[in-house]
Amino acid sequence: MSNQTAESIQNSFSGKDILSLSQFDKPSIQTVFQRTAEIKKQFQSHSFTNTLQNTLSALLFFEPSSRTFSSFAAAIKRQGGQTLEFQNPGQTSSTVKGETLEDTARVMENYAECIIMRHPDVGSVDRVARAVDVPVLNAGDGAGEHPTQALMDLFTIQEKTGTLNGITGVFAGDLLYGRTVHSLLKGFSLYEQVTIYLLAPDRLQVEQSMIEELTSKGMTVHTIASTEDIPSDCVFWYWTRVQKERFEDQNEYEQLKHAYILTQELVTKRAGTDTLLMHPLPRVGEIAIEVDNDPRALYLNTQIKNGMYTRMALLNLILNR
Ligand code: NCD
Repeated sequence: MSNQTAESIQNSFSGKDILSLSQFDKPSIQTVFQRTAEIKKQFQSHSFTNTLQNTLSALLFFEPSSRTFSSFAAAIKRQGGQTLEFQNPGQTSSTVKGETLEDTARVMENYAECIIMRHPDVGSVDRVARAVDVPVLNAGDGAGEHPTQALMDLFTIQEKTGTLNGITGVFAGDLLYGRTVHSLLKGFSLYEQVTIYLLAPDRLQVEQSMIEELTSKGMTVHTIASTEDIPSDCVFWYWTRVQKERFEDQNEYEQLKHAYILTQELVTKRAGTDTLLMHPLPRVGEIAIEVDNDPRALYLNTQIKNGMYTRMALLNLILNR
């Protein structure tokens, strides 16, 4: 997995890169949560603050994105900051002329206080972070990590249940290529008595080395292959999309894409009365539309809102606002 060399946060965020959940310890996560909760409260009572005024953040997205891109842009603009936006710079910027990632980023750091970047290659965001002095935030590096998504998901679960200790949850879908899953599992490994069920076809199961790392930190991990094996007392279900863009063989993708579908019938059969139904989005058929109106479904509302607030909190902490 990527990002092994990223600097620990240790509750001091100013000027730091956010590349991986492995940079975090519990107190640092708590600091993000505290700031997120404060900002959420302010926004809900319409008392807006312009703490990101006079900052410019470069959004460099070399891979398609609607949610993460707009979530960061909204987080920045809603607090009075500005953005320099590059979507698909692979087609529209000097990278077409053969410019290296490092050079593109070095130019950007002359304009911007921070760089928020998504790229299809694992480790590419780390490379950029090493090349520039401004803080770099990983908005997804291939099948590597997606730390800001994990922080918002942890915040959502903690907000709903009051704790991240003693939790039992399910991850389903593409656990091999799903970067949100990798970051979120690393986050959970910091907490006590966490039991995780990994529901995936063999081909898309979490890598054995990662399972070993998680269990060595005290997490109880069960790999399962059938929805029948989902226990009835789960705090959350975290469903994910099979990552089409990571497959060389599209026939294989077609065979695996709907290995597990979250339907109302399954919810009725196996979810608890308070089980949180989560998904990082986009979904492409793995959650039936009928589930959207279930009050336990958080993917189209709470998760999205909390994503913006969490990114606001992180940017304020990193930019020392
Ligand atoms: C995820 C991603 O890009 O990794 N989406 C997101 O950022 N919310 C999940 C996915 O694309 O399946």
